[in-house]
Amino acid sequence: MKVLVTGGAGYIGSHTAKALAKAGHEPLVLDNFSSGHRWAVKWGKLLEWDLAATQMLPQFLENERVGAVLHFAASLLVGESVRNPRKYYWNNIVNTLNLLDALQTADVQRIVFSSSAAVYGDPKQVPIPESHSKEPVNPYGETKLAMERALQWYGNAYGIKWVALRYFNAAGADPDGDLGECHDPETHLIPLVVQAALGKRPPVEIYGTDYPTPDGTAIRDYIHVTDLADAHVRALDYLVQGGESRALNLGTGQGNSVREVINVAAKISSRGVPFREGPRRAGDPPVLVADASLAGRTLGWKPERSDVETIIRSAWNWHAKIHKS
Ligand code: UFG
Repeated sequence: MKVLVTGGAGYIGSHTAKALAKAGHEPLVLDNFSSGHRWAVKWGKLLEWDLAATQMLPQFLENERVGAVLHFAASLLVGESVRNPRKYYWNNIVNTLNLLDALQTADVQRIVFSSSAAVYGDPKQVPIPESHSKEPVNPYGETKLAMERALQWYGNAYGIKWVALRYFNAAGADPDGDLGECHDPETHLIPLVVQAALGKRPPVEIYGTDYPTPDGTAIRDYIHVTDLADAHVRALDYLVQGGESRALNLGTGQGNSVREVINVAAKISSRGVPFREGPRRAGDPPVLVADASLAGRTLGWKPERSDVETIIRSAWNWHAKIHKS
């Protein structure tokens, strides 16, 4: 099937384009390169378009006989969303509505939407099931939740079928070394830790050592990006087979603390990770861990590479390779 992959030059989108191609689909990557990378577009045709201007999109979808869309294109920094909500409302909501209009015009009936654990806000219960209350604590989470709800209403009214995948902490890199995580600015823990170990960044700051967790640092559910990519291919197959629209958590059900991540990276790099302890980062909950059993049952999905050592080793290999070249 031909599958439009918006944001296919980005981190999770590019890994998923590779997984789609491997599964026998044809990815068509749409990206405006506001944060994606040309080197990450290696599978399928590239459309350098912006979802703010979608006049050409319906005709393209019809001509190419596109069967589904995986919609990754979005702004994704929690802190930035608090400082500049306008960017998030326009990019994550208005541009997604533009995409939905184009799908409707072209009669494309399937969409897999990138959502986030940020829809839950501060968890009242961990592991977090999909039925947990949704009270986002930042504009990023608000915009993801708003689009999940729009999908539900559009589905009821117009028949579009959707799966919203709520990622926990995406991390790691393609095991073949073709792709990896490369944000600018980088704010995510694992690439920062790996780059600090490589001497390419200043020491990592641990944001908070007084959390009510065993070692005092915050716990997250890290999920390998290739496991996320696999879940998208399965979600697509699920929709093709007539599966009901729904939201699913993607995580492992296991958490690791910031200190554990640093210790594993130190072991893998055999160099030590320079770090210092600092205050909490505003808005960070102490523990975020998924109950991902529904994704397992619904998609037959099981994370294969998401133990934290495998994740960090793949990130290490990728960063060591790009810093050498
Ligand atoms: N952390 C540090 N030092 C750093 C960076 C991060 O200690 O320099 C800590 C954070 O405080 C947090 C953990 O490492 O406890 C992970 O932080 P990340 O920034 O890597 O990821 P987040 O948990 O903040 O963000 C992820 C996704 C977001 C999503 C959010 C909430 O990247 O898209 O979870 O669900 F919105």
